[in-house]
Amino acid sequence: MVPQIRRPGAYHRHQMGSLPESSLASAAFSTDLGALILDDCLSLLCQVPDNTFDLVMTSPPYDGQPKYGNGERYERGWYEDKFLKVTGEVLRTLKPHGSFVLNYRSRRHQGERGTLQYELVLWLRDQGFKFCDDFVWGKPSPPPGRWKRHLKDGVEYCFQFAKSADWQFFPEHCLRPARWDRKDVERRKKLPHNYDRVNEPSGQGRRRVQAGPEMVRPSTLLYMEPEFLPNPTEHPARFPVELPSFFIKLLTEPGQLVFDPFGGTCTTAVAAEKLDRRWLTCEIDERYTVVLSERMKKGR
Ligand SMILES: C[S@@+](CC[C@H](N)C(=O)[O-])C[C@H]1O[C@@H](n2cnc3c(N)ncnc32)[C@H](O)[C@@H]1O
Repeated sequence: MVPQIRRPGAYHRHQMGSLPESSLASAAFSTDLGALILDDCLSLLCQVPDNTFDLVMTSPPYDGQPKYGNGERYERGWYEDKFLKVTGEVLRTLKPHGSFVLNYRSRRHQGERGTLQYELVLWLRDQGFKFCDDFVWGKPSPPPGRWKRHLKDGVEYCFQFAKSADWQFFPEHCLRPARWDRKDVERRKKLPHNYDRVNEPSGQGRRRVQAGPEMVRPSTLLYMEPEFLPNPTEHPARFPVELPSFFIKLLTEPGQLVFDPFGGTCTTAVAAEKLDRRWLTCEIDERYTVVLSERMKKGR
């Protein structure tokens, strides 16, 4: 369904629950389900009441990323100071059942992989988040490149944090076809953890190994191509719409509110709109967001 696109600023407050009128009045783009705010995400978050969002999903700038137009170099100090202030506000504004999904990968510096990705997990735990899980996004066709002592980087992390141990979780929204073909069954029977069950006299467990349900829960390995769509904004680091779609389905129900503080080309907003979730997205550089109206029409 093609979303109804509203004029800038014409957003209806009641649809955003408890978000303040002042921040929504300045929306640069909105639909019946959500709004894009052009601002520094920390300023925006400071106006948001406690316990507002059901899910916050974002990909902040990579460390040392010099390519954004705002002149910031996103050195380590930016993460220790600004980013942790943002995540502190994320914790405050998440609902008790809410999750925060952080898509991140430290870059390599002088032949060494940066460790910020691991440090961030510890810093966020110290801040009060629960560290729920680490999902690995594997890219079948990673961006090209050739290095003396490194291979192409085909992996990124999605770290899931929560505000409480009672975080909501809907794996049934993400079921995928099982691979129960003949070859697969034979392979599974030989796996050490299945061997005893299959071969013991009672045959207990035999049925489970040999024939499972047709649809099964996904694993924490997400196998998705990187974003190949045309990039008219020349944004240097977009994620594919499938990535936020997966977490929106896994961690929210239709109608709930999803926020992306570092919105870029607004991919999280496109995914949320398509999945009938309410959304709020924030981006500091207007140039990256000009594609949003077109993306909403295409749903990609
Ligand atoms: C990795 S990109 C996000 C890309 C996005 N996931 C997409 O698919 O297009 C990070 C974005 O954060 C934006 N950004 C950096 N500092 C910001 C801030 N203080 N407030 C809001 N956005 C910011 C950058 O301009 C950049 O577009």
